[in-house]
Amino acid sequence: MKAAMIKEYGPSDVLQIGEIPRPQPGSRDVLIEVHASSVNPIDWKIRQGKQRGAIRYKFPVVLGMDVSGVVVEAGSKVKQFKVGDEVYSSPTHRRQGTYAEYICIDESAVAQKPSNITHQETASIPLVGLTAWEALVVKGKVKPGQKVLIQAGAGGVGSFAIQLAKQLGAYVITTCSTRNVEKVKALGADQVIDYTKENYEEILKDIDVVVDALGGEEKYKARKILRRGGRLSLLNATLIQNTERFGPNIGLLKTGLDLATFKLSSWLFHGISANTIMRPPSGKILAELTTLIEAGDIKPVVDRVYDLEDIAEAHSYSETGRAQGKIVIALRKGEAVSYPRT
Ligand SMILES: NC(=O)c1ccc[n+]([C@@H]2O[C@H](COP(=O)([O-])OP(=O)(O)OC[C@H]3O[C@@H](n4cnc5c(N)ncnc54)[C@H](OP(=O)(O)O)[C@@H]3O)[C@@H](O)[C@H]2O)c1
Repeated sequence: MKAAMIKEYGPSDVLQIGEIPRPQPGSRDVLIEVHASSVNPIDWKIRQGKQRGAIRYKFPVVLGMDVSGVVVEAGSKVKQFKVGDEVYSSPTHRRQGTYAEYICIDESAVAQKPSNITHQETASIPLVGLTAWEALVVKGKVKPGQKVLIQAGAGGVGSFAIQLAKQLGAYVITTCSTRNVEKVKALGADQVIDYTKENYEEILKDIDVVVDALGGEEKYKARKILRRGGRLSLLNATLIQNTERFGPNIGLLKTGLDLATFKLSSWLFHGISANTIMRPPSGKILAELTTLIEAGDIKPVVDRVYDLEDIAEAHSYSETGRAQGKIVIALRKGEAVSYPRT
């Protein structure tokens, strides 16, 4: 089968299109014919080798953690899916590889695809949807009427999280640059802070939940605006900066220690529960998202669609940090590209 893979860590041109054997499903796996995938920042962080302290991959590595497609084979113990089902998923880090024509995924991480959107739109959902759910529902415990700050509202996670937080009944505040203000308002944001003109630390206080998508020193600022008893969902550890400075092993250790210290001090001195968000590969949560999407309560936000052959270009665009919503990868040439490239 055709796949985009890396044989070494490096810049976007280490991504190569090649032929590899089609994977064989285990007893609990479904083999999915991939119709569309998407790019997430984690893909190029792995490609750059910045995650190698956390997971050691064996080359060649096929990247990609989002898929929408059709089940073409089901393992002997698979209960929920049959050949022909249209499904979507975000596989685990160890079994990633959706930049390919086929992928095997444990059925527990798979759900029926929303029927009202295309495969390309669906592929934009799984990883960011699962992350937003973990940050707002599981760790954030958002209740109706609560004030929620979502950092980087115009990005992949942010554009989904704004819509989900609105569905949870929250008053949603978000940050973005001037060009995205109207876009995030259209997604449902009640209050928008243009970070090129205003500093959110000077405007906000007594916030119930913050989703910090920026990382680094940002978590200290977020802590200042939360109320006692508030909750902070951290999407970014400082692993990349620490790996660059100290190498993969010490970098990983230092990141763990930094986070543990931050969480303890947040709890002891500020009364805040700070939680690291790890996107759960969960078919059950995706099924909840399917219900919200089919009801029209959450809509996919797709910025650009690239063909698999242009994967290096898609990575370079994601690395600019300026994507407005999601970057989708089309695997099936016959399917209409719903969003023209700009
Ligand atoms: N822990 C997890 O499980 C998990 C899961 C998913 C993502 N993540 C991490 O979360 C981060 C966000 O992911 P993503 O997919 O949303 O990234 P993304 O789509 O690449 O984010 C791009 C967006 O970030 C916005 N942005 C950049 N700098 C900003 C700033 N200073 N303030 C506010 N907005 C800013 C940009 O808006 P403007 O152009 O308007 O600035 C742009 O729309 C990434 O670092 C990713 O690795 C973690």
